[in-house]
Amino acid sequence: MRIDIVTIFPEYFGALDVSLLGRAREDGILDVNVHDLRAFTHDRHRTVDDKPYGGGAGMVMKPEPWGEALDAVLEVDAPVVDVLTVDAPPAEPVEGGPIVIFPSPAGEVFTQAMARELSGAEHLVFGCGRYEGIDQRVFEYAGSRASVRLVSLGDYVLNGGEVAVMAMIEAIGRLIPGVIGNPESLVEESHEDGLLEYPSYTKPAEWRGLAVPPVLMGGNHGAIAAWRHAAQLERTRRVRPDLLPPA
Ligand code: ADE
Repeated sequence: MRIDIVTIFPEYFGALDVSLLGRAREDGILDVNVHDLRAFTHDRHRTVDDKPYGGGAGMVMKPEPWGEALDAVLEVDAPVVDVLTVDAPPAEPVEGGPIVIFPSPAGEVFTQAMARELSGAEHLVFGCGRYEGIDQRVFEYAGSRASVRLVSLGDYVLNGGEVAVMAMIEAIGRLIPGVIGNPESLVEESHEDGLLEYPSYTKPAEWRGLAVPPVLMGGNHGAIAAWRHAAQLERTRRVRPDLLPPA
């Protein structure tokens, strides 16, 4: 999979060099390219933001650097500007083409199902906004070139998209075949079957007065599976009842 990230803070993505994703990059499974948005500015101050039209607090990211950055990563030779008339129909996403993701608290919520779906893409582009957001026309322009999704990590506000993109890349990347050594470890995780995962234990059998549930040490695989399923249901009911179907 090819991943392009556009950001004003490329340093955030140094962590992609380590651990399983770092190995996947070395192995050529993941081709990650981080682009500094300021490289697509042309003024002395490398300006990426300006005051909002209509007034209000904060600054808005300017469309011009974003347009050039998207053209570069989507390999658009010459931007066609006249497709974006007010009456233009919404662009049809190209099946199998690049998907551009803008992290935003105003987007659809990121889930394990979305991570799985995106793990099948060949080319993902992440555009990290800062300040009060990105000029709306950038999303429209990107939508005329690729599938565009606004994606939120959850109902809280971060200072920018970088941390959200790191989380999404980790969730997506580990689902790509070859990234995790033992793919079976993916099967019994939280959210894969709609439930939270069961608690895990290892040696010693007793630690600081706390014992491992005896059923896990009895070798009865049917009983272990039943205990684990019951533990998943109990935990999900207690912590995330919203995940369970209505009774
Ligand atoms: N940017 C700021 N807050 C965010 C959130 N909750 N999810 C994704 N991107 C964001």
